[in-house]
Amino acid sequence: MTDDIAALIADARSRIEAAADGAALEALRVEWLGKKGRITELMKTLGAIPADERKARGAALNVAKDEVAGLLAARGAVLAESELDARLARERIDVTLPPRPLPDGRVHPISQTIDELTAIFGEMGFSVAEGPDIEDDWYNFTALNIPAEHPSRQMMDTFYLRSAGEAGAPPKVLRTHTSPVQIRTMMSVKPPIRVIIPGRTYRSDHDATHSPNFHQVEGLVIDKAIHMGHLKGCLQEFCRAYFEVADLPLRFRPSHFPFTEPSAEVDIGCSRAGGELKLGNHGDWLEILGCGMVHPKVIANCGLDPEEWQGFAFGMGIERITMLKYGIPDLRTFYEADLRWLRHYGFMPLDVPSMTGGLAR
Ligand code: PHE
Repeated sequence: MTDDIAALIADARSRIEAAADGAALEALRVEWLGKKGRITELMKTLGAIPADERKARGAALNVAKDEVAGLLAARGAVLAESELDARLARERIDVTLPPRPLPDGRVHPISQTIDELTAIFGEMGFSVAEGPDIEDDWYNFTALNIPAEHPSRQMMDTFYLRSAGEAGAPPKVLRTHTSPVQIRTMMSVKPPIRVIIPGRTYRSDHDATHSPNFHQVEGLVIDKAIHMGHLKGCLQEFCRAYFEVADLPLRFRPSHFPFTEPSAEVDIGCSRAGGELKLGNHGDWLEILGCGMVHPKVIANCGLDPEEWQGFAFGMGIERITMLKYGIPDLRTFYEADLRWLRHYGFMPLDVPSMTGGLAR
């Protein structure tokens, strides 16, 4: 190999080995092996030199060309690897970094209370049943033994829908309570039955403690030989668990509902000393729910034999027990969709209430 070609290769080697990245390397490839590259240009001069020298010089140039191509490929591989290493270092995930703060959303106190009710009654073997908000007159009133003159049937108390449906049929109503789902459940599920029924209810009422749309939870137990002792025990368990007051006293006051006999209203112990409401054994009383033994006529209306099946039912306002437990003073704020209110009274989405993990955190 002639000296000039050896020098050429040495030059190429030092420049290629110093190339810092892929772009610099590509520029070198063009400079040496491109159409006007230094080796290409030397090849073009072969025709002008004497025939006896031409063969050896041609072979030497080919060797130089291969050598430079090899140097380019080797440097390319080194650069590719170090670029990959740099990327791996740059994109590494630091699992010890603290997580980003959770989003600002909260679980609404009504949803939280429904979750708490489900956890407490679930522990007692109840499942959750649901029914439609737009209800037939028969389910909402007639099957529940509610007489024609009952105030809840009046236009001023109930939202009736204008379209009557079938000709001659009474208009549909926005259910005034969750009790119609008692009927739907007894007509579709074979006893024994143990359900709670949370849901939206509607009455034509609007002030600081009444909203035209509110929520109730109903309870229904149907079995053989069920008596008021079961009702009392069940509600006592529930109230003490929900309000988280272990010795919370309960008082059953005789009352009247068309669909239960006997009927009672339940008060829980409280104190109103100093204008501040405190739950517990303090001598004062606060009404929280209605209940009773399911009326035999209601059981019969559902196609069951009241001689064979008995049970109890109860119903209460979800807003009311939520306001009591969490100290929310005005019912209307539940529906104002004010984010500041929700951040104050709302609950963290992943803190699902449970009897073992805690009801409210
Ligand atoms: N449905 C009744 C109401 O809305 C409550 C209730 C339910 C009473 C079940 C007794 C039994 O006032």
